[in-house]
Amino acid sequence: MQIDHDALVVGAGGAGLFAALELAKSGVSTGVLTKLYPTRSHTGAAQGGVCAALGNVEEDHWEWHMFDTVKGGDYLVDQDAAEVLAREAVECIIDLEHMGLPFNRTPDGKIDQRRFGGHTRNFGEGPVRRACFAADRTGHMILQTLYQNCIKAGVRFYDEYHVVDLLFEGGDGGDGGRAAGVVGYRIADGELHTFRAKAVLLATGGNGRMFRITSNAHSLTGDGMALVYRHGIPLEDMEFYQFHPTGLYRLGILLSEAARGEGGTLLNRDGERFMSRYAPKLMELAPRDMVSRAIYLEIRDGRGAGPDGDYVYLDVHHLGRQVIEEKLPDITDFARVYLGVEPLKEPVPIVPTAHYAMGGIPTDLRARVVRDERNAVVDGLFAAGEAACVSVHGANRLGTNSLVDLLVFGRRAGREMAAYCRVAEMPAVAADAPAPVRAELDDLRGRPRGESPAVLRTELQATMMANVGVFRTGEMIATAVRDVASLKERYERVRVEDRGSVFNTDLLEARELGYLLDGAEAMAHSALARTESRGAHSREDFPERDDAHWLAHTLAYRGEPGPTLRYKPVTVTRFEPKPRTY
Ligand code: FUM
Repeated sequence: MQIDHDALVVGAGGAGLFAALELAKSGVSTGVLTKLYPTRSHTGAAQGGVCAALGNVEEDHWEWHMFDTVKGGDYLVDQDAAEVLAREAVECIIDLEHMGLPFNRTPDGKIDQRRFGGHTRNFGEGPVRRACFAADRTGHMILQTLYQNCIKAGVRFYDEYHVVDLLFEGGDGGDGGRAAGVVGYRIADGELHTFRAKAVLLATGGNGRMFRITSNAHSLTGDGMALVYRHGIPLEDMEFYQFHPTGLYRLGILLSEAARGEGGTLLNRDGERFMSRYAPKLMELAPRDMVSRAIYLEIRDGRGAGPDGDYVYLDVHHLGRQVIEEKLPDITDFARVYLGVEPLKEPVPIVPTAHYAMGGIPTDLRARVVRDERNAVVDGLFAAGEAACVSVHGANRLGTNSLVDLLVFGRRAGREMAAYCRVAEMPAVAADAPAPVRAELDDLRGRPRGESPAVLRTELQATMMANVGVFRTGEMIATAVRDVASLKERYERVRVEDRGSVFNTDLLEARELGYLLDGAEAMAHSALARTESRGAHSREDFPERDDAHWLAHTLAYRGEPGPTLRYKPVTVTRFEPKPRTY
């Protein structure tokens, strides 16, 4: 079947929904394809807040937010993008408030704001209250609000459609072709549908499931990133992957940074607030890369807690019942339910957890996908949210800037796509556009014997966790490069058990494993080449940042036997790179 819309949005997280809303409000026929029910998208897992320099509870300015974002990203941030982010954050929050989002309030009725790591007043003087929040369910509330408004605006949703290919007209995406639509696999019956459109937005989220311990949902397999990579478009800055400091011990489930923003502390086995050794000024509210490294160093130096000395504690008991129940209800419940720990009385065991891809599909400020170091635009193709890299996060994202990124650039994407759709013609697609991907899926489903995809996925997660995690060396990353290459080779022979077409999640998980392997390949190769330490990319064999050689974005192009790497300059406007201390 072929379905036509002027605009297609792939993914129903915050970026996709905000774009779809803008499109529908402009009168553009808009379809949203999502492999989940929309309100189950991973934006819902962002807990603690969305920052904007509203200045509701203390003085604040967008320039301070911009500076913190640039410094937090260890100066790999494109500063024109950071300026857009910080300025438009304020408008986006007001938009959401007008749409009905139930933010927590100050006693005089304004949107309340809390502290978050790396957000400071007056260019680094001390923490500032910048994160707007709805208890510890901020992302969840954003999703609900945007979804309701999309329904009201007449957006057409295609729930439980898995996007398995991108369509181009006049050449492949990396060769100057124009986006023409996507192929969607309907999970209910295994039918492949052609979705044709003038403009396509990829808002498919991140790929944290390539790591063993992660805060990411099972659906976070980097589908959009892998699909563009397969069509000759590079992936940008994939070596920068964020570990959130406070995941529940062993499980990785997120315990929001809001806990520290409200005054929670990190303790080692001796009950010492060890952050005084690593970030004496901001302490627990230092950026995430630094806090995650500090936790690993405490554990490595024998100050970890528990029988194996392999975790530290997040302590919130001193905040008292009222703060915990009003502002941190969900995460404290997670500690009770999953670890049997009562945060009102005792500290919670935590470890860093794989959380967020700073890199992704390269875009310009208008959310248009670009395909080279001169920023040549792929006509009709857009990306936003975690799947994209407009480079507002550089080498390390600040907490709450993910939600701001998806709001600001999701909204921009919707507006740009609407303008594009007004002038573009409907592209042509082949009569049987799904034929190539049908052949791939039939091959995967038809193999009489082979290895289990689950075994390969476990091995992938183990090598990425061990070798491309918080601390890395050339030797470790080279091990991951070899492991991923071998897993890719074995992937050609995996076998799925379920041969049917109805809700064949076995088949789709095998397909997702292929996407994870592509992302891991780009990540490991990009990390091996970058012989410096910057933000979340911490090389023990190259411990210093090296601006002379590495103030540049990586572009990884798919190739054989591995990707080709090219580089493009970082945009520096206001803030010259400086040593990064807190
Ligand atoms: O800690 C948190 O609440 C997560 C927020 C984020 O990743 O921005």
